[in-house]
Amino acid sequence: MAIRTDFLVIGSGIGGLSYALKVSDFGSVVVVTKKEDSESNTNYAQGGIASVVSPEDSFEAHIDDTLKAGDGLCKPEVVKKVIKSGPKYIEELVKVGVNFTRDKNGGFDLGREGGHSKKRVVHVQDFTGRELENALLRAVKSKKNIQIYENHTAIDLITQRCIKDYNFGSKEKIKCFGAYILDIDKNKIETFTSKITLLATGGAGRVYLHTTNPQIATGDGVAMAYRAGAKIANMEFIQFHPTSLYHPFGESFLISEAVRGEGGKLKLRNGKTFMDKYHPLKELAARDVVARAIDSELKKSGDFCVFLDITHLNSDFVKKRFPNIYNKCLTLGIDITKEWIPVVPAAHYMCGGILTYLDGTTDIKNLFACGEVSMTGMHGANRLASNSLLEAIAFADFSAKSSIEQFKKEKGKEFPQVKGRETKGKFDKKEWVIISHDKKEIQNFMWDYVGIVRSDRRLKKAESRIRILLKEIEEFFHLNPVKEEVVELRNIATTAELIILSALSRKESRGLHYNVDHPERDEVKWKKDTIIQKNEGLS
Ligand code: FAD
Ligand code: SIN
Repeated sequence: MAIRTDFLVIGSGIGGLSYALKVSDFGSVVVVTKKEDSESNTNYAQGGIASVVSPEDSFEAHIDDTLKAGDGLCKPEVVKKVIKSGPKYIEELVKVGVNFTRDKNGGFDLGREGGHSKKRVVHVQDFTGRELENALLRAVKSKKNIQIYENHTAIDLITQRCIKDYNFGSKEKIKCFGAYILDIDKNKIETFTSKITLLATGGAGRVYLHTTNPQIATGDGVAMAYRAGAKIANMEFIQFHPTSLYHPFGESFLISEAVRGEGGKLKLRNGKTFMDKYHPLKELAARDVVARAIDSELKKSGDFCVFLDITHLNSDFVKKRFPNIYNKCLTLGIDITKEWIPVVPAAHYMCGGILTYLDGTTDIKNLFACGEVSMTGMHGANRLASNSLLEAIAFADFSAKSSIEQFKKEKGKEFPQVKGRETKGKFDKKEWVIISHDKKEIQNFMWDYVGIVRSDRRLKKAESRIRILLKEIEEFFHLNPVKEEVVELRNIATTAELIILSALSRKESRGLHYNVDHPERDEVKWKKDTIIQKNEGLS
């Protein structure tokens, strides 16, 4: 079956849904998403959205905090535009029905997180993401022009080298016409052609053994865009959240930074605090500092985890402010009002991604990107807490505006004839049993060799292993009928390779990238983005 639409949106998190709402007055919109519509990183966001909404705060202070966290690699024009538009997007979310927690005067109740000089995180208790996702889905479902396809996994972008039809001088530019999508229930590849395509597929936490991200976060968008020829930037900057719940029987679960914002203290098993040795802001230092401090303490003690203590806070306050965290921990036998919470760092956020310009465009014509899959220059070498939901909603808007303009130019043009793809032959189950183990292997060596603290030797080891695995996974993918697990494994492997190559090339330590063989920041050679493009290599 071939489906045609004006706007194809891949991903149903905050980025994809906000964009779909904005373009839907101008043409037909199809949103494809690989699981149920709400399953996304967005759905699990806890802390909230950073925005200047209090008279005690200022845009300058938020901009300054963001630039400091980004460690010299943020694009100031992007940071300024996003932060100054923040209050407008918070109001838009209120209008679509997000019920933000209010203080006793009816203003927004504001949380504090690491690296912020003020309380500025607008939130819905500690389940902000679920509220955002539900409100946006309700709004999207009320629009006749938008159709959502659940259980549809994008495999690859449909592109065509297009010489005549481009606007940017004499260099050939690749053009996107939609995507090949696997209908999981029917186990069939469908061709979705579109005038405009948006990638909003989120992050890649599942490339690592320990992560706060749900199963969907397998780097699909970055891998698809890379294969299609887009520029991919700054993939070495993977953010590790300092406090993921450590529990042998629990799926990974985040303990929000807002818990430290309310006074939570990090402690060793013997009850001693340690953050004062690492930074004057202690528990509220930027994430890279706190994650490295915990990593260093764990290496010294040999323990599996450190502890977060909020037992000194009023227990009614804790239950009201953090109901999600309180209930989750209670199901695992930990009453956080009386007991310390065992925590470890875990892969949390991909600061790099598809190189995306201020209008949401990418290096592929008619392909736009927003949210975690993109690298816009907002986060630089280290994202400031709660700036990603803000960036995603802002870039959904910027992309929507330029997509609508581009759509008007494409409107009269015919849809291209795109050859379908078939799932032929018999799936080699026995071979898959062996190849499927590659996933754990990649996750393990990414954790050990390309984690919080890196070295040239470890990165080289990771490089030689990913080369071998990627080759056998690609081969299996091309020889067998397509299955979702194979698509995801292929994307995990490609994303891992991009992270390793970027990390190997950056011969300095900056922000989230810390290499013991190059422990200093190099302002002369390395105050720049790492860019990789297929067939062009690194620059
Ligand atoms: P997502 O919300 O991840 O959505 C991606 C969508 O793409 C999903 O629907 C997915 O199913 C779909 N998809 C992926 N691949 C494919 C494919 N091949 N085909 C079809 N569909 C596909 N940020 C903050 O600013 N504040 C917070 O408080 C905060 N808390 C967080 C807590 C947790 C536990 C986590 C994991 C992240 C948190 N973040 C927070 C980060 C933030 O939630 C994400 O960066 C943001 O939600 C990303 O939005 P997105 O729209 O880009 O992607
Ligand atoms: C958190 O609540 O700690 C997550 C915030 C974020 O990732 O921005």
